[in-house]
Amino acid sequence: MPTKTVIKELKPSRTVKLVDGSKTTEFPVYDGTLGPSVVDVRSLYKDSGIFTYDPGYMSTGSCQSGITYIDGEKGVLLHRGYPIDQLAENSSFLEVAYLLLNGDLPSTAQMREFDTAITRHTMVHEQIQLLYRGFRRDSHPMAVMIGVVGALAAFYHEDTNIKNATHRMIASHRLIAKMPTIAAMAYKYSIGQPFIYPRNDLGYAENFLHMAFAVPCEEYKSNPIHARAIDRLLILHADHEQNASTSTVRLAGSSGANPYACIAAGIATLWGPAHGGANEAVLKMLKEIGDKNRIPEFIKRAKDKDDNFKLMGFGHRVYKNFDPRAHVMRETCHEVLADLGIKDEPLLEIAMELERIALEDEYFHKRKLYPNVDFYSGIILKALGFPTKLFTVLFAVARTVGWVAQWKEMIEDPEQKIGRPRQLYTGSPERAYVPLDKRG
Ligand code: SDX
Repeated sequence: MPTKTVIKELKPSRTVKLVDGSKTTEFPVYDGTLGPSVVDVRSLYKDSGIFTYDPGYMSTGSCQSGITYIDGEKGVLLHRGYPIDQLAENSSFLEVAYLLLNGDLPSTAQMREFDTAITRHTMVHEQIQLLYRGFRRDSHPMAVMIGVVGALAAFYHEDTNIKNATHRMIASHRLIAKMPTIAAMAYKYSIGQPFIYPRNDLGYAENFLHMAFAVPCEEYKSNPIHARAIDRLLILHADHEQNASTSTVRLAGSSGANPYACIAAGIATLWGPAHGGANEAVLKMLKEIGDKNRIPEFIKRAKDKDDNFKLMGFGHRVYKNFDPRAHVMRETCHEVLADLGIKDEPLLEIAMELERIALEDEYFHKRKLYPNVDFYSGIILKALGFPTKLFTVLFAVARTVGWVAQWKEMIEDPEQKIGRPRQLYTGSPERAYVPLDKRG
């Protein structure tokens, strides 16, 4: 049964005044359960004729949400109130998916029903296979994901009425279920191996590893430690408040667009190296550094304003402390390498030395730049046999749960309407058209 988002009725705790010359305008302030309060400026333009100005939305809340809470100063991340380290330790990705979508941890019966619903949607229409043929084998898999996930809108557009709660639930289940299949197919296509169908007897992470690494010629033996590592990695990437890709999904969804098209837009946004593409960029950076002795050279470049090099996997718009996910990721990294018997992974050595040096450096300390979720994830994925180009694809598989949960919440929020920001116009004043023969 679909669940309804609980939207808190906002009541002002106080007001703030904006004095502009002789005009004073008052705005209500709302308090959340945790974190900063918000000032409701929706009437600002109507009451005062001016807009707010906030490039990059450094101080702007776009919505109310009960899904994820982040305290950047303390390095806290809660999903529906549960700390990320407890979920990573004790939960499973599918259970976290249920939690994000429905608001509470499932009962045994609810978990069994959800698990069955997801399992039953893991296959894709046979014609989807033909879409891959249109891409070059060496296409970046994120380009393939954008194309194939967007194309799902063509397969499910007719029976998707986003105003219908059951349709929203089915679309959410389809997306969560099919992302691993589509991702594994993108990988198989890139290496010229046949697509492997999902299996209903395997768990979510195990099924993904099976579809990515099995071949028809022999029995695939999954490694429970690797499956657990992938499941935990998916949990750590599931949702993260109103980040760039989630905000894209919400904005696309606010126009009433097809949910599959909205998630394709989220995948496109996540691809950027400043966002989800950072995990791939971290591996490239570690390989470019190549030796611990070259770390000072790269630290110097990261601090040089004339060099657009940034330390990938470092810094965060919200975390001004350690990203709590990076802590868990580093532990998982050591576990996976130990299980694989990899004693001296040079990239991990470089990463740990880079982290040590950067955290002692005034430049990073002053700017509160710490390792984020992307700093260690690539080393784990490389150790598990994934090519670097596939790292952000795994991030997209995980974040689909957050995207659909946030999309559902947005649609069920009576305060939400089509997103349409304004601007400060600094272009030319009005001027008359000059015909070409008069322009000299
Ligand atoms: C993700 O939003 C989310 O929640 C995202 C995410 C999620 O789960 O959805 O957590 C996933 O995207 C994690 C971030 C992955 N990106 C990277 O690792 C790329 C490297 N990081 C930077 O590009 C940067 O830190 C950002 C983009 C993450 C954050 O940039 P901000 O908040 O816009 O900060 P900024 O660029 O204004 O930086 C402030 C200062 C600047 O120096 P000054 O002008 O003050 O002298 O810090 C510097 C920046 O130059 N700086 C860095 C740096 N990050 C910031 N300097 C060197 N290396 C870096 N990595």
